[in-house]
Amino acid sequence: MKTIHVNTSHPYDVLIERDGLKKCGEYIRTITKSNKAAIITDDIVGGLYAQTAADSLAQNGFETCVFTFPNGEQSKNLATFGQILDFLCENSITRSDIIIALGGGVVGDITGFAAASYLRGVDFVQIPTTLLAQIDSSVGGKTAIDIKGGKNLVGAFKQPAMVICDSNTLKTLSPEILSDGMAEAVKYGMIRDEKLFELIENHDLDSIDEVMDEMIYTCIDIKRDVVEHDEFDKGERMILNFGHTLGHALEGWHEYTNFTHGMGVAAGMCLITGKLCDSPVMDRLQKCLVNYKLPVGTDIPMSELLPFCSKDKKRESDSLSYIVCRTIGKAEIVKVTVEEFNKLMEE
Ligand code: GLY
Repeated sequence: MKTIHVNTSHPYDVLIERDGLKKCGEYIRTITKSNKAAIITDDIVGGLYAQTAADSLAQNGFETCVFTFPNGEQSKNLATFGQILDFLCENSITRSDIIIALGGGVVGDITGFAAASYLRGVDFVQIPTTLLAQIDSSVGGKTAIDIKGGKNLVGAFKQPAMVICDSNTLKTLSPEILSDGMAEAVKYGMIRDEKLFELIENHDLDSIDEVMDEMIYTCIDIKRDVVEHDEFDKGERMILNFGHTLGHALEGWHEYTNFTHGMGVAAGMCLITGKLCDSPVMDRLQKCLVNYKLPVGTDIPMSELLPFCSKDKKRESDSLSYIVCRTIGKAEIVKVTVEEFNKLMEE
């Protein structure tokens, strides 16, 4: 097992271990004296892994209850949030008990926000089961739900008490969902670590499992470093949003259906890199993304995409910040007016 200690306002460990799910009870026992755990999951992940988690928790003295909601972004809303709070209350979960998010980014985000707000805060553990959740959303304490006005517009910073990444859970992912996570892995290479980028570009969707734990470790370690410097997202943390301004716009244009977050990030990274960087950087980025069956651009006219950028959370009143990597492994934050950004992208 490999461990990454995240030294934020509430420090915690990220455990990376193949088959770690089977030992989750043992690990969670080290951070709580409580004998009660509420597992929140979705109908797909729950069917695959809730019993394994519950068995391990029971072997370690926990009484468990499980709340399951339908898989997908459309569940990350106020209605499901309310159902989770009611479930915690009905099962007499107290402030000293533990809540467990078992699933991908949607489960982690909504469960984290429920843990942040129920009884004004209950400890929660992330057991991410998608690549995207393992290398990105489960670490760093961002929790949120979607409202009519947009994605992730309501939430809280709430660091987990522990994160358990079991890369064996990735074996049940469809190739599309694995690709979704690979876009974020490529992003980490682009913003911070050329060696990581090389590792990824020397593999493809079929062979990446050979180096999965090494890749997951390196990505999480980069995220740890960024989050430790800027836990509350006031500056440097913005580099994690490379490719996301246009990526979010693409997701919004597609109404969040049949177009994953990773597809948006991949195309978004290429759109900004193509505008501002030398062709060797762009060529390597494109080739790498193609290996993971990710898009490297879009046919949608900029005039249709740019209005979606105005909803970006990184936007201030009349300016926005975008991220550019002029060399692989180094990111710059560039603040421009919305007008300048639109002009750049429309050229
Ligand atoms: N996923 C971006 C962040 O955690 O800041």
